[in-house]
Amino acid sequence: MTANATAQLKLPNIKTELPGPKAKEVVEKDHRYVSPSYTRSYPLVIKRGWGAIIEDVDGNLFLDFNAGVAVLATGHAHPEIVKTIAEQAADFVHIAGADYYYPQLSDLAEKLEKETPGDHPKRVHFGNSGAEAVETAIKVAMFHRRRQKFIAFFGSFHGRTLGALSMTSSKSAQRLGFGRAALDVTHIPYPNYKRYTGPLTEEEYGIECARVIEDRLFKTTCPADEVAGIIVEPVQGEGGYLVPPASFMKELRRICDETGIVLICDEVQAGMGRTGKLWAVEHHDVVPDVICSAKGIASGVPLSATIARADMMNWHVGAHASTFGGNPVAIAASLKTFELLHGGLLQNCADMGERMMAGLRKLQTKYSKYILDVRGRGLMIGVEFVSDINTRKADFELRNQIEQECFLRGLIVLGCGESSIRFSPPFVIDEEQVDCALRIFDESIAAGLQHRGHPFFEPDYNETGG
Ligand SMILES: Cc1ncc(COP(=O)(O)O)c(C=O)c1O
Repeated sequence: MTANATAQLKLPNIKTELPGPKAKEVVEKDHRYVSPSYTRSYPLVIKRGWGAIIEDVDGNLFLDFNAGVAVLATGHAHPEIVKTIAEQAADFVHIAGADYYYPQLSDLAEKLEKETPGDHPKRVHFGNSGAEAVETAIKVAMFHRRRQKFIAFFGSFHGRTLGALSMTSSKSAQRLGFGRAALDVTHIPYPNYKRYTGPLTEEEYGIECARVIEDRLFKTTCPADEVAGIIVEPVQGEGGYLVPPASFMKELRRICDETGIVLICDEVQAGMGRTGKLWAVEHHDVVPDVICSAKGIASGVPLSATIARADMMNWHVGAHASTFGGNPVAIAASLKTFELLHGGLLQNCADMGERMMAGLRKLQTKYSKYILDVRGRGLMIGVEFVSDINTRKADFELRNQIEQECFLRGLIVLGCGESSIRFSPPFVIDEEQVDCALRIFDESIAAGLQHRGHPFFEPDYNETGG
């Protein structure tokens, strides 16, 4: 089949049993040689991809509604991204931006200053991963404020390097065996209105959640004068695709303004257009002091950016840098990614997100006993499963079964939170693909309810892991 004819294929097609014979071999070898800490939910072994389609090593086609964990906003092998990468690679692949100059570095930094909330001057530090973006934000806050404590939220995921891990509180498996946290971080609950049973409206509840900081922490374990930063995901990602009330983010901003605490927004998963706006925090009309970006920023080429107020990232030469951070191939891909987002993909993300959300809400009605919530923005949507709507007990087993049933039918999704499925497809999807994903999800819920507790593939995680 020609490359052109292949590119036309945009729906799943499963031809072998799963995993197929070649996939089986790869999985076995991987299990022998690769770090056992990786968290695989099912045996997807990719050979190549285009748009929202993944072809596995046995020739099966899958519809990718995960995008490499919310990374590939422009889809697999977008022709313009591929061309840009090739052209940049032919010029130079590496020189080390911390030691030498090249125009791409300041071009992207200038773009990020303009494209992030707030008209103030900013500075940008480039790294290679989300965790590195968070490490940088932590160091900026500590250095700028000369303070050491941080406040973060339960359910948050900020990465697994030791500094970022101190902020992370998503699952105990991420902490188990690594002793006490490297940094002094206090975690408090992140708003989850669907599970709140009190009398407050959603906006009142958002304010109350943030006020715990003033009413409890400042008065007890975290004197405000010792807190360097508050780090928050404007939509909580790994924690379950939770959208907080706007009042919550506004209240955090007020508290930081009154105490000189640095407000750090971790937009690693929710940023770069995933919620239908370039930055998730824009939905809340809040301007953070520091923004962490990675995942979608360069269409899959490793790159992260920490964008800070210029008067905060005012450290001395040598304070922080990385050999690979700001790699020119990644930067070229990033500049092209911005072009594609503004050239229609951002709009498509918002439009397809609406269609997806409407379809999922219908499924919520159909499976009203088992779906507690459908929530999200743009193409960052979570569906939370419970064993019974009356008890609202999170159903981890059912969620895992549905995840695998989707895979067996050619739909790639991943779990998040305790018992949610997340949808984070590439922004290039069309209506037919959304409708196909909804149909497979519907079938998979029915099958999941029937087969719950009988996974065809033993996932590499348990209730506390992954
Ligand atoms: C919000 C958030 N921050 C940080 C990270 C860490 O990114 P990385 O895995 O690239 O280190 C993630 C990864 O999922 C994330 O979702």
